[in-house]
Amino acid sequence: MTRTPLVVAVDGPSGSGKSSVSRQVAAQLDLAYLDTGAMYRAATWRCVQRGVDLMDTALVADTVRSMVLQLDLNPRFPSFVVDGVDVGVAIRAPEISAVVSQVATNLEVRADLGERQRRVIAVERTPDGFSGGRGIVVEGRDITTVIAPDADVRLLLTASEEARLARRAREVHGTDDAAALEATREHVVDRDARDSTVVEFRTAADGVVTVDSSGLDLEQTVQAVLALVEDVAGR
Ligand code: DC
Repeated sequence: MTRTPLVVAVDGPSGSGKSSVSRQVAAQLDLAYLDTGAMYRAATWRCVQRGVDLMDTALVADTVRSMVLQLDLNPRFPSFVVDGVDVGVAIRAPEISAVVSQVATNLEVRADLGERQRRVIAVERTPDGFSGGRGIVVEGRDITTVIAPDADVRLLLTASEEARLARRAREVHGTDDAAALEATREHVVDRDARDSTVVEFRTAADGVVTVDSSGLDLEQTVQAVLALVEDVAGR
C-alpha cells in the first residue's frame, strides 16, 4: 500500500531550536526540509543587494516577486541560490538579521513567498516517484496556521525566553555571560515582537501540539518530536 508522503509543519520563535530540530527530524525520516525563514532572509538579501529602500513596500514586493530562487531541500545540505548566487552564508549576516522583519512583515511579500512554499509542499506531498514526493518538514512562523494547516503533524516548538536567549548567545557569541545575553536580546525578543505583528507563533492554534524544549538538549528535543510524529502519524 502506498501512503501519502508525510508533511510535518513546525513553527516557533527565534532561539526555540526549530531549525536544528527540523533538519535532524527530516534527515532521520528521510524527508525533504524547507526553512521558510531562509526564504525571507533570501528575499531581504536581494533587496539589500539592490539598494532597495525597505520602507518602499511596493518596490520591495516587486523585487521579491521577480527573484529567481532555487532551493535544495536536502536536510543534510540545504541550499538557497538567488539569481544564480549561493546566499547560504550571506543571509545569516547581522545586517540581514537586523532588517529581515521589515521584509517579512510586508504582506505582498508574504503572499508571494507563501505561494512558493505551498507549491514546494504540493510537489513533495505528491507520490509520483519522479520529482519530489519525498514528504517534507517545513519550519517557520505561520506554517501550522496559514501555509499548511492540513499538515499531517503540526508542532509549535517553544522554550522559555531565558533558554532562547542563552542558546542564541552561545551560537552567536560563543558564551552566555551577561554581556552576550544583553547583546542577543535585540535579536531574539525584539525581532519576535516585530514579527508577531503579522503572524501568531507564540501560542499553539487548535490541533497544534506544543513541544517545550527549555529543559531539553537538541538530541532530546529531536527524540521528542520523532515520538510525536510516530504518535500522530503512525510513522
Ligand atoms: O527563523 P529566522 O530567524 O531565519 O526567520 C527570519 C525572519 O523571517 C524572522 O524575522 C521571522 C520571519 N519569518 C516569517 O515571518 N514567517 C516565516 N514563515 C518564517 C520566518
